[in-house]
Amino acid sequence: MTGLLEQHIAVVTGGGSGIGRAIALGYAREGAHVAVLDADADAAAATAKAITGARGEASSLQLDVTEREKCREVATQIGATMGKVSILVNNAGINRRNAFTADREAVIKDWQDIMAVNLNGVFNVTHAFLEQLRATRGRIVNIGSIQSFMHVRTPNSPAYTTSKHGVLGFTRALAAELGKDGVRVNAIGPGFIETPLNEKVRATNPDLVKMFMDHTPLGRTGKPEDIVGPAIFLACDLSAYVTGSIVMADGGYRSI
Ligand SMILES: NC(=O)c1ccc[n+]([C@@H]2O[C@H](COP(=O)([O-])OP(=O)(O)OC[C@H]3O[C@@H](n4cnc5c(N)ncnc54)[C@H](O)[C@@H]3O)[C@@H](O)[C@H]2O)c1
Repeated sequence: MTGLLEQHIAVVTGGGSGIGRAIALGYAREGAHVAVLDADADAAAATAKAITGARGEASSLQLDVTEREKCREVATQIGATMGKVSILVNNAGINRRNAFTADREAVIKDWQDIMAVNLNGVFNVTHAFLEQLRATRGRIVNIGSIQSFMHVRTPNSPAYTTSKHGVLGFTRALAAELGKDGVRVNAIGPGFIETPLNEKVRATNPDLVKMFMDHTPLGRTGKPEDIVGPAIFLACDLSAYVTGSIVMADGGYRSI
């Protein structure tokens, strides 16, 4: 199927790398005009260039999602130059793997930084685009995690687990409130996806990767492309009666 997102203007945060980059490319393949946003301006520009190089439509802008006022400015700019946004993917995220009992300063910094990006960032960007999304009866796709439901048995940050539980809660709350405006709000829960986010872990901690794979019925790590189908589904009319849901793209991790 092609052209599923024609006439749509889509914003993807953290679109310069990994899952966000793959979603931006996938949306453009389906006909959306994509605004690639990332704290890393060069990475955002590279994704947009890859899209236009493949005859898609894209623009890029630098945006750190922790900067609330800047989010509003960027939303206004996109609305004025590209048109009203009808799809928002809240994908930008970070992780650090310090236990709660680790060094005090590190734990406090992790908490502040991870909440600022993974949870407050989702709020900032969504709030900034709210009126455009209501005007277009738009779709919001939030990137959650296995850790939207559980803490994985690895040395992992409690802040990350808390933030991803929060993303799911936010998804449900907004779905409930915005349904009357025709705005659908859903999430995707990726499993262990090979991206720069976990490059170091994959290189240095094979036991952790094995633990994940032993717990993954499909028996392999995911690729960013594995998240694109669910992201297109939730953004297009195929999911017209789906809201407040999370689509797990985790190789079955949560089933065993
Ligand atoms: N990779 C996985 O296994 C996995 C699993 C579950 C969920 N996720 C989630 O998927 C999302 C994307 O992760 P990824 O694996 O593609 O990571 P990634 O590191 O490859 O990409 C993240 C992108 O977000 C950008 N970013 C970081 N902080 C930002 C900020 N403050 N403002 C704007 N952009 C910012 C980075 O510059 C980068 O381009 C994250 O929300 C992550 O938590 C990833």
